[in-house]
Amino acid sequence: MTVRAPAKLNLHLAAGRRRADGYHDLTTVYQAVGLYDEVVLSVAGQLSVTVSGETAAAMPLDQRNLAARAVLLLAQETGQDPAVAIEIRKGIPVAGGCAGGSADAAAALVGCDALWGTGLPRAVLAALAVQLGSDVPFSVQGGTALGTGRGERLTPVLGHGSYSWVLALSDDGLSTPAVYAELDRQRDSGPVAVVSDPGQVLAALRSGDPVQLGRALANDLQPAALALRPALRRVLESGRELGALGVLVSGSGPTVMLLARDDGHAVALTAALAGQGVCRAVRRADGPVHGARVVEAR
Ligand code: C5P
Repeated sequence: MTVRAPAKLNLHLAAGRRRADGYHDLTTVYQAVGLYDEVVLSVAGQLSVTVSGETAAAMPLDQRNLAARAVLLLAQETGQDPAVAIEIRKGIPVAGGCAGGSADAAAALVGCDALWGTGLPRAVLAALAVQLGSDVPFSVQGGTALGTGRGERLTPVLGHGSYSWVLALSDDGLSTPAVYAELDRQRDSGPVAVVSDPGQVLAALRSGDPVQLGRALANDLQPAALALRPALRRVLESGRELGALGVLVSGSGPTVMLLARDDGHAVALTAALAGQGVCRAVRRADGPVHGARVVEAR
């Protein structure tokens, strides 16, 4: 069973104060974009994980791996044998703020449900997904959605058209808990600018106007990510100088997203940004795209 699951971008991310359970209440607008992890699942003698592709070295291969945890959770829920070989082909950067781990978990849930023929309703898969991480329900659902709670309560966002994104990938990842902790520290030590409601992003998506969307992009986690990774300022500056419609750190970073006017502009931005040598790699990805889906069953 081969499953493809997309990366996500946060077009808007407003974080509230830290809750008693350690999470932050979010109001976020997710978009799934065409940069994928492929996860191949086959019945085997025991549960195993192999990883290839994008920054494969940084991923755990034991039961801490989110795809392995997803297989174990679904097996427990359905009474199936979790002896599955999981082969992950990474296209999404690890610890990049693009929900790469969540994509793998979503792919494993959707893929094992198909492999075992358990046919769980979407609502049950979503309830399992949230146990694996705040972004996993969105990785299952895809498209464009408003996320509240800790990001797991989803409402689809109606919008027009497709957007051309260019993603600047960094050498090393950033730890999501560390970025949230830095946000708390900044807020404790003085006033910080706070992102307001997502009205402008939602209006831009309704109108389908990339210029309006570019201006509306906003992320409360960006100052924290910049504090932990000052070199990202250079990437943001380059994106603005090169004429991107909007430039923003995605989620907890360090991936930076640039919005292009159209495909041709995205090609030009990709080449120009790669030429500046301010990031490890540059990828194009259009959105919105579907959530985790079986692409091949043998
Ligand atoms: O839900 P997930 O396991 O992906 O979250 C990873 C970490 O990110 C959490 O342990 C928490 O530190 C932080 N987080 C948060 N508020 C959210 C989502 C994540 O503080 N809404």
